[in-house]
Amino acid sequence: MAEATIGGGAEQVSFTEAGLRFEVDGEIATITLDRPERRNAQTFATWSALADIGDTLPGQVRVVVIRGEGPSFSAGIDLRMFTPEGVPGQGSFAAVATLDGPALEQRIAQAQRGFLWLRRPEIVSVAAVQGHAIGAGFQLALACDLRVLADDAQLCMKEPALGLVPDLTGTKPLVDLVGPSRAVEICLTARTVAAEEAARIGLAELVVAPGELTEAVRDLAAALLATPRDAATATKRLLHGAPGRTLEEQSAAERHEQAARVKALFARS
Ligand code: ACO
Repeated sequence: MAEATIGGGAEQVSFTEAGLRFEVDGEIATITLDRPERRNAQTFATWSALADIGDTLPGQVRVVVIRGEGPSFSAGIDLRMFTPEGVPGQGSFAAVATLDGPALEQRIAQAQRGFLWLRRPEIVSVAAVQGHAIGAGFQLALACDLRVLADDAQLCMKEPALGLVPDLTGTKPLVDLVGPSRAVEICLTARTVAAEEAARIGLAELVVAPGELTEAVRDLAAALLATPRDAATATKRLLHGAPGRTLEEQSAAERHEQAARVKALFARS
């Protein structure tokens, strides 16, 4: 499935069928949605390639950047999935709908695997979003820890308008970021959230001019990499666990992580 190319000191792999490119340069991995002629629409192959990348991510990688080639980050699921013919070689919703309930949920779980690894404590994932991020595109941006938006970015959770629910792991980060009321409003109206509003309501860490997106993400990656790896991993683990814990439980988690840090940094051998 993968054809390997080497270029510019970085190792690049092209997942042609999935419409992805994957590049590792030192501690930074870049996943590029690379089907600009279809506005980087996603298919089952895209999600399974994302899961493969997560499964085989080189151990030295600390920052994973997800970006899109062309004018849009991603126009969401490939709309051919909604036709009886589907996407060549990958079926259609009509075919998936013939599965029994557990098998259908298992199919969705496979797709979700492509998104879930982006929250691992050992890495920080950054979505670099220009233009449209619709449906699965918005959810892919939400699957990342951080979002840097070009000021032309337009986010839209279109699934409910199509009779579906957002199922590519996007609902929890959306609610965590904007709260349940705003999340209901965004999803059930399927309206477009522009970059300026996205930053204001917590959906983006940074908004920059489209021509500055690459450099802004590079600067952010450099700043993230300046923090010692083990401390960054432990801190991310701590922060991600916080919403599910009481203050006392979180304090205990802080003690636990810090004890390990202090021993690692100061214990004499
Ligand atoms: N699936 C398959 N092909 C797509 C998709 C998609 N999701 N989005 C765009 N394309 C194709 C178009 O058919 C068109 O192909 P063509 O040149 O052969 O006609 C090409 O990409 C360019 O699309 P345009 O619409 O011409 O590009 P424009 O920049 O004007 O608009 C936009 C971009 C707004 C993203 C528009 O294409 C669009 O609305 N796409 C559909 C979005 C959508 O409903 N996605 C599903 C969300 S739900 C989910 O993800 C689960």
